[in-house]
Amino acid sequence: MVEECGDISNLLTKIQKCFLSGSNLKFLDWEKTIEHIRSSRDPVEAQESVLQVTVLHPSNLLYPVKEDYQRTFLKKFISQLENCGEEVCESLYKEYLVRLSSGEPQQYHHRHFLINGKTLTIQEHTSIVSGGTTGLATWEGGLALSEWCLHNPSLLRGRHVLELGCGLGLTGLCVSLCCHPQSYTLTDHHPAVLRAVERNLLLNREILSDIVVKTELLDWEDIYNTSLKDVDVVLAADVVFDERLFPALVATFHHLLSKTTSFAVLACTERNPQTLTTFLTLLGQKDLEIEELECPKPETFLYSLSPPIRLFSFRYGGQTRCADDAGSTDGEDRHG
Ligand SMILES: C[S@@+](CC[C@H](N)C(=O)[O-])C[C@H]1O[C@@H](n2cnc3c(N)ncnc32)[C@H](O)[C@@H]1O
Repeated sequence: MVEECGDISNLLTKIQKCFLSGSNLKFLDWEKTIEHIRSSRDPVEAQESVLQVTVLHPSNLLYPVKEDYQRTFLKKFISQLENCGEEVCESLYKEYLVRLSSGEPQQYHHRHFLINGKTLTIQEHTSIVSGGTTGLATWEGGLALSEWCLHNPSLLRGRHVLELGCGLGLTGLCVSLCCHPQSYTLTDHHPAVLRAVERNLLLNREILSDIVVKTELLDWEDIYNTSLKDVDVVLAADVVFDERLFPALVATFHHLLSKTTSFAVLACTERNPQTLTTFLTLLGQKDLEIEELECPKPETFLYSLSPPIRLFSFRYGGQTRCADDAGSTDGEDRHG
């Protein structure tokens, strides 16, 4: 019986984790969920307990996940019950109907990530590309990089970490919350992205400890006019997508890594293997020594591995040069 309670609570935790983070519903074990409901002494109460950890969860009531997603979840839940002849409880129908008749289209929605007993909340823009930037949504590479950081806190503890193309700041928040860096600087070039990340820092201010987390404008195409402090670790996720930006991005990594003993970790969703090869070749030409890391399995963060997500660590393998030298060499890259 104790074991059964444990199983049910594990099942509800998994449902909650998937729903609140707005992750793909394929991560839900519907078969087990329905089996649990059907074998309960009180199937209505069992259905309601699923509603309590999803649509009626306080985090969702305060900061709702995407409306479409909530509708799809409830529709799927109802059809799974109906398909096996189980009576659907009234509150489940009610919650579905409420979401069918919602008014204004949503501009923003939220995702909640349960990490070490704390809930990290991210506000996202509802369309993936908005205001000319891809940075107002959380990308799969950002989820995988966050997972990797959670598995490797010792490499980040006490370090000055800088993130390039930070988007909404999930990785920065996750590292700040769990990996004890000395400081974390979230950088991006887009003003709307920086405003959104500031908002996410505010949303999570209660759970962030005394770690120094800040945002800074950093444009890879203007790296030599950016004043940079010492950085020990550079992180970046899903920034390798536009070949026109490769020279500037490679120069940025080189500039940050050639002055210190720092290393970088980069997560890339591999949509086009040739694009990634081109980028890695350019890094190699700048004396950056690359090692491929194993992509962790989705545990805390639920991301798809199709297309694959590849992770690389690299550090400068040449002689340490002063900033001016690096600047003049890389200036050539930027012009061709
Ligand atoms: C696909 S998004 C990835 C966001 C985030 N890293 C994630 O994984 O969710 C790419 C990010 O790179 C940023 N970016 C694009 N070009 C940039 C540039 N020239 N300098 C700095 N950031 C740039 C975008 O604003 C956006 O936030």
